[in-house]
Amino acid sequence: MAIRIRGIGTALPERIVTNDDLSRVMDTSDEWIRARAGIGSRHVDGITSEMAIEAGANALKAADISPADIELLILCTTTPDQTFPATSAVVQSSLGLGCGAFDVNAVCAGFAYGYVAAYGMMVAPTGPDRVLLIGSDSMSSITDWTDRGTAILFGDGAAAVVMERHVQGEMLAFDLGADGNLASILYCDHDAKIQMEGREVFKKAVRAVTRSVENVLEKAGIGADDVDVVLPHQANIRIIEAVCQRLGIPMEKTHNVLETTGNTSGASIPLAMARAEADGALAPGRIVLMSGFGAGMAWGSVVVRW
Ligand code: UT7
Repeated sequence: MAIRIRGIGTALPERIVTNDDLSRVMDTSDEWIRARAGIGSRHVDGITSEMAIEAGANALKAADISPADIELLILCTTTPDQTFPATSAVVQSSLGLGCGAFDVNAVCAGFAYGYVAAYGMMVAPTGPDRVLLIGSDSMSSITDWTDRGTAILFGDGAAAVVMERHVQGEMLAFDLGADGNLASILYCDHDAKIQMEGREVFKKAVRAVTRSVENVLEKAGIGADDVDVVLPHQANIRIIEAVCQRLGIPMEKTHNVLETTGNTSGASIPLAMARAEADGALAPGRIVLMSGFGAGMAWGSVVVRW
């Protein structure tokens, strides 16, 4: 038995902040942000539940199924609307679902963790036949808009996938990791804003992602050359380039949205997946690699035969 992705949906809030907008309120420039991060603009003022509902509804539509067909909802978010209830409960009722729902918080690695959790439950005896897996984050709500070290990077968005038991779509391997010793280089306290040592996170991320991808490829029994499609966490194009260079994977295999979204945390990998689908890259049989990293530090890589 395998699990395919039957439909993908996305949602991005209307308001866009460009690099030029930022350079009017802080000491930065469009040239610097593009050169150092590969970001040109980001969406802001999104509410996690609202974006998740819109993306979830779009995924149900793309999959051409009704809410009653969904047997579990998982929401990957680090910016829940409230401490509790879990935002997934609000999304569940708004979408007209009658199933169980829970949030996953692994920050920017959230979608990889959520995918593995969903897959594991679906292949278990009496597990759900169809899961709605959503990544949604309102990073603008926890961004310090006077801090040029973080304000340039983050944005809001959501993307959702309908996962379904099927003959195709098998997960070949996964690698999930965390190192709480590095919690202090990227964190956000309650009722506070993101704190980040950018250069440290950059270096640790390149190392962690490279190792994680090496691990997952080894577990899957394949080489980097066998990978057809890479869906990387959309944090910084230079991190993606550095990892690809170390692994010998051509950048052409990556599908990216960060130029217009920035880092949307839990939504980042599924937004890249939606881009890959739009690019016509997601054909059955193709080897697809997803890899995320972020605060924790936590990271996760998944290899799927589409
Ligand atoms: O999901 C994980 C989320 N986080 C990340 O992935 C973040 C990873 N880190 C990064 O992406 C990069 O470290 C940044 C994009 C945040 C910064 O790029 P960098 O190449 O590491 O720059 P830096 O912090 O080493 O700063 C280089 C220079 C410094 O000036 P001096 O000391 O060389 O004179 C900074 O003060 O650039 C300056 N600078 C800026 N200049 C213009 C820092 N931020 C800015 C800015 N605009 N926004």
